[in-house]
Amino acid sequence: MMQVVAVAEATLKRWFVGLAAAGMPFLAALTPAQQASEGQVLYVKYCAACHGQKGTPTRSALAQWPQLRPFSEPGFVQARSDDSIAAVTHSGVGKDMPARKDTLTREQMLAIARYVRSLGPPAVP
Ligand code: HEC
Repeated sequence: MMQVVAVAEATLKRWFVGLAAAGMPFLAALTPAQQASEGQVLYVKYCAACHGQKGTPTRSALAQWPQLRPFSEPGFVQARSDDSIAAVTHSGVGKDMPARKDTLTREQMLAIARYVRSLGPPAVP
């Protein structure tokens, strides 16, 4: 599974680098939908082990951290900004959730944040 994700990520990267190198930086600029899919690839790689493929915490993660909430819970991540979710990825949470500031770029963290928010129902005003 991780191998498939790594290959998909590498393919995506090559594609964007290729577009940029071909003098088409405007095509390399991501639309929100594409960012969501880059976010999904990164989410699966860096977050799903604990938070689950679809944002429902895995059984083993819940056994360790019963306080984990599903991202689909109304008003949980939907009510938050992409920045605040990216900040969690950047710095981690206590000693339980690893910080990714040395692994991921800010753009990647924001792409993950958009994907995480897409896992929940729309915010209720
Ligand atoms: C090793 C397991 C683990 C991984 C991997 C992990 N998390 Fe977490 N995450 C946790 C735990 C545990 C908590 C709950 C901490 C608490 O509430 O005490 C948490 C909490 C959160 C929260 C809520 C924090 C808050 O301020 O309310 C968000 C958002 C979150 N994680 C996003 C992510 C994202 C995005 C990724 C991937 C980049 C990720 N997590 C990867 C374990 C993990």
